[in-house]
Amino acid sequence: MKHFDNKVAAITGAGSGMGRSLAVQLAGAGCHLALADRNAIGLAETERIVRALAPNVRVTTRELDVSDRDAMFAWADEAAAAHGRVNLIFNNAGVALSSTIDGMSYSDLEWIVNINFWGVVHGTKAFLPHLKASGDGHIVNTSSVFGLFAQPGMSGYNATKFAVRGFTESLRQELDMMRCGVSATCVHPGGIRTNIAQASRVASNMVGFMVASEQQGKDEFEKFFITTADDAARTILTGVRRNARRVLIGRDARAADWLARSLPAAYQALVVMSARREAAKARKRARRAEREATLNGTGRTMNNNAGKNQGETA
Ligand SMILES: NC(=O)c1ccc[n+]([C@@H]2O[C@H](COP(=O)([O-])OP(=O)(O)OC[C@H]3O[C@@H](n4cnc5c(N)ncnc54)[C@H](O)[C@@H]3O)[C@@H](O)[C@H]2O)c1
Repeated sequence: MKHFDNKVAAITGAGSGMGRSLAVQLAGAGCHLALADRNAIGLAETERIVRALAPNVRVTTRELDVSDRDAMFAWADEAAAAHGRVNLIFNNAGVALSSTIDGMSYSDLEWIVNINFWGVVHGTKAFLPHLKASGDGHIVNTSSVFGLFAQPGMSGYNATKFAVRGFTESLRQELDMMRCGVSATCVHPGGIRTNIAQASRVASNMVGFMVASEQQGKDEFEKFFITTADDAARTILTGVRRNARRVLIGRDARAADWLARSLPAAYQALVVMSARREAAKARKRARRAEREATLNGTGRTMNNNAGKNQGETA
C-alpha cells in the first residue's frame, strides 16, 4: 500500500475541479505540492485553500499550458529543484469539445489533441526521470469514460481519451518490466461535477444536430455529472494507494465499461438510439424555453446564445 505523507506530487489542471480536490486531499495527507494550471486565478485560489488547510505542506505554483513541451520540461526541473524530488505526477488538465467530424475544424481538433493527449505525453516524459530518481514514483494519467466507449459529437474528445488509455496501459507494462520504482495508473471518470462542460467548446455544427444552442449543449452535458470532484479525487487516491492499473469513477463509468466490453459492436447502436432520444428532448426543451421567453417579452431565446460561447472560457 502506497502512502502520500512527506511525498511530493505535481498536478496539472490544479486550478479547478478534480485537480483542486486532488491538491486539497493530498495536502491533507501530508504531501508537498507542485501545482500548475493555465488559469492563474484558479491556481491562486487552490494555493490559498491548501495553505490554509495544511500550513506545513510546501506548495509551489506555475502558470503553465500543458501543450507547451518546453514549458512542461522546465516546470518538471523547477519542481524537482524546489522540492528536492518529485514522487507523483497527476496529468489531469483537460478540455472538452463537442463537434461533428463532418463540420469539425482542424484548429478545434488540434486544440484538444494538444492539451488532452500531448499534455499527458509531455507530463509523463518530463517527470519520468525525476520519478525514477525519487525511488518511489507514480504517474496518474486522466482518461475518461469516453476513453472506454464512443459517443456521437465527441470524436475529438474520444480520440484523445482512448489515446491516453492506450499510452498509459503500455506505459504501465513497460514500467512493470523495468522494475524502476515507478508505476502508472489510468483514470476513467464518469460524469463529475466540475467546470469542464462550461469551459468546453461546442461547435456551431452541433446546433440543430444534437443540441438547440451552444449554451444548451454545455448545460445538457452537465446533466450527466453525478459524482462530486471530492469523491472522484478520493477514488483516484485510493486507486494510487493500491497501485491500481486503472480506476473507474462512478456507477456510470462502471456501467459504460461493462456495456462496451460485453457488447463491443451493439453498444454503438444503443448509444445512437439514446442520443437521438436525448437530442429530441433537448430540442423540445429549447423550443419551450423560447416560447416562454417570447411570452415573458424578454425577447431572449436559447438561440440568441449561439456563437456567444465558442472558445475557451476556463
Ligand atoms: N468532469 C468530468 O465529467 C470528467 C469526466 C471524465 C474525464 N474528465 C477529465 O478530468 C480532467 C480534469 O477535468 P475537470 O473535470 O476537473 O475539469 P475542470 O475544467 O474543472 O478543470 C480542468 C483544469 O484544467 C485546466 N486546463 C485546461 N487546459 C489547460 C492547459 N492547456 N494547460 C494547463 N491547464 C489547463 C483548466 O484551467 C482547469 O483548471 C480532464 O482531463 C477531463 O478531461 C472529466
